Amino acid sequence: MYNSKIIGLGYFVPENVVTNDDLSKIMDTNDEWIQERTGIKERRHVIKGEETTTTMGVKAAKIAIERAGIDKDDIDFIIFATLSPDYYFPGPGVLVQRDLGIKTIGALDVRNQCSGFVYGISVADQYIKSGMYKNVLVIGSEVHSTGLDFTTRGRGVSVIFGDGAGAAVMSREEDAKKGILSTHLHSEGQHAEELALIAPGMGKRWVTDIIEDNDPNDESYLPVMNGQFVFKNAVVRFSEVIVEGLQANALGKEDIDLLVPHQANLRISQFVQRKFGLNNDQVFNNIMKYGNTTAASIPIALTEAWEQGRIKEGDLVVLAAFGSGFTWGSAIIRW
Ligand code: UT7
Repeated sequence: MYNSKIIGLGYFVPENVVTNDDLSKIMDTNDEWIQERTGIKERRHVIKGEETTTTMGVKAAKIAIERAGIDKDDIDFIIFATLSPDYYFPGPGVLVQRDLGIKTIGALDVRNQCSGFVYGISVADQYIKSGMYKNVLVIGSEVHSTGLDFTTRGRGVSVIFGDGAGAAVMSREEDAKKGILSTHLHSEGQHAEELALIAPGMGKRWVTDIIEDNDPNDESYLPVMNGQFVFKNAVVRFSEVIVEGLQANALGKEDIDLLVPHQANLRISQFVQRKFGLNNDQVFNNIMKYGNTTAASIPIALTEAWEQGRIKEGDLVVLAAFGSGFTWGSAIIRW
C-alpha cells in the first residue's frame, strides 16, 4: 500500500491579456463592478485557432513532467478534467496521449467543472494507492472565451471566466504520513441547472437540430449562472468540505499551512479565509490575473504557489473546490 504525492507541477496561460476595460468597450460593464464583486482585474483569452484546451493542457503537462524528473514514457495513466473539450467527443485525454507521443496507456476524461481537478487527483490517488499505476498525469484545462456571450446579455457570466491550463504528475509515496492524506468528493444534481450550459444536449436540442434551425436568440447555447444562489452554496460547501477533510485526518484549522481554493471569486476565498481565521500568507489567490479558469484554476494556482516558494516540504496544503453540478471536494496534502 502506497500513498500518492505530487512530484511535478506546470501551467500555461495564453499571452492575450483581456482587461476589465477591454470588456467594457464591448458590453455594458465596468472595471469597478467587476473588481468589487469578483476581485478580477484581467483574464487571458486564447487567440482562436492558436490554442485549444488540449494544446494548452499538453504545454502545462510537459512542464510538469520535466519538473517531475521522469520521462513521458514513465507515465502510466492520463486524467483530463475540463468542461470545454476540443471535440464533443472524444475527450481531450486521448489527444494528450497522441500529442505527447506516449504509449497506448489509458486516458480518462473528468466532467466535474470547477471541482474537476480535485476529482482528478482523487482518482489518481486511488490508482496509485492500490498499486495499479505508479505515475499518473492529471491535467485541468479550459478554453472558455470562445463559448461565452460577450454582449451585455451575457455579462453576469462572461466577465468572470478565463482560459488556461495546469497539470500535475502524481507518483508513489512510501511514507503513509506524507502525500495526499485524503480526498472528499460530493455532488448535488438537484441544482444542475443553476450553473450550466444546456445545449446541445439530449433534453434540449441535439447537434442535428442546431444545424437545421440555428436560432441566434435561443439562449440554451449560452452558459447560465444563478450567481447569488451559486455564491451562497459555494461558501457553505467550501467550508464543509475543508472541515470534513481536516477531521478525517484528526487535524484542525490551525494545522493549515496553505489553502489553495478554486478561484471562483475573491469574495468567496476571503469569506472562507475569515471563517477559518487564516492570514493572507495561508491562502493563495490569483483570480485577479486569470479570472475563473474552472478545472484549470487549482493546478494553475498550486503551480504558482509552488514557484513562489509558498509551499515547503512538510506543509499541510488544502485544496478545495465548488462549482457546476453542483459538485465540490477537497484534498488534504502533507507536502
Ligand atoms: O466557479 C463556479 C462557481 N461560481 C461561483 O462561485 C460564482 C458565484 N457568484 C458570484 O460570484 C456572484 O454572484 C457574481 C459575481 C456572479 C455576481 O455578483 P452579484 O453581487 O451576485 O451580482 P448580481 O448577479 O446580483 O447582479 C447585480 C447587478 C444586476 O443589476 P440589477 O438587476 O441590480 O440592476 C446585474 O444585472 O449587477 C448587474 N451585473 C453587472 N453589471 C456590470 C451583472 N453582471 C454585470 C457586469 N457588469 N459584468
